[in-house]
Amino acid sequence: MKTIQDKYVLANGTKMPKVGFGTWQIPNGEQAYNSVPMALKHGYRHIDTAAAYRNEESVGKAIKDSKIKREDIFLTTKLESHIKTYEGALEAFEKSLKELDMDYVDLYIIHAPWPWSEMGKDCSEGNVLAYKALEKIYKEGKAKAIGVSNFSVKDLENIMKHCEVVPHVNQISYFIGNNQKEVDDFCKKHNILIEAYSPLAIGYALSNEVIKNMAVKYQQTPAQVCIRYCIQKGTAPLPKSTHESRIIENSHLEFEISKADMDILDAIKEDPRKWN
Ligand code: A2P
Repeated sequence: MKTIQDKYVLANGTKMPKVGFGTWQIPNGEQAYNSVPMALKHGYRHIDTAAAYRNEESVGKAIKDSKIKREDIFLTTKLESHIKTYEGALEAFEKSLKELDMDYVDLYIIHAPWPWSEMGKDCSEGNVLAYKALEKIYKEGKAKAIGVSNFSVKDLENIMKHCEVVPHVNQISYFIGNNQKEVDDFCKKHNILIEAYSPLAIGYALSNEVIKNMAVKYQQTPAQVCIRYCIQKGTAPLPKSTHESRIIENSHLEFEISKADMDILDAIKEDPRKWN
């Protein structure tokens, strides 16, 4: 079986394909409508969108038009980061369902612990209110799993202290050189699956010499090394591309990085976004 069709089992038993297709920065309309079917054609069964990406409409339509059974696709969307009220979150979820033209999603998550325009602001109370709405949505079966994104250990502890359902996932920026050990350790301890967004460091990791040499050694590409690294760390990478050749490349992950080489990649501490 292809690695992208292997599945993680979340804490509540929901199965999630290990590799997702990220749609951040893929505009609504033609681009999103064309790239999602490309991913589906090449075996991806996990699609990640968000209300803030403004492409839910095309992503949902592409999934429907693919004729692949809905239950064979794992679909995530996200609550916009500035919505920190119970009612606001319920309303936003219904709006997302309408945009997607779906009656459920597989995963619904809070996009960030603070509004993007006020990064770092303490929204502890609002996060609890929003998460309680997600719990209601989950209990009604309209989301098969729920979680958060960009949450620190402190943000996660706040939810776990005041809410009932331990988040099933935490989607964070995660790539070689930025493997967020503190959050990763905490999530592993509490059976919260880490989803790795920007597994290629938005492309910057691909020009790193260590990664390039590793790719030659394994007869793979730097992108494949980056994505495979995330899987071997027990996270679910969400590579994004609008090019079919890259979508295909990013789906071929049938190789194993040795423990010694994983240690070498782990030792890269500098954020590759600064390498260029
Ligand atoms: P494009 O969409 O033009 O293919 P990340 O997933 O870390 O956010 O990285 C996404 C960026 O990396 C995008 O700019 C994407 O460009 C590029 N990209 C995705 N896959 C590959 C690949 N296999 N080789 C080179 N660049 C890639």
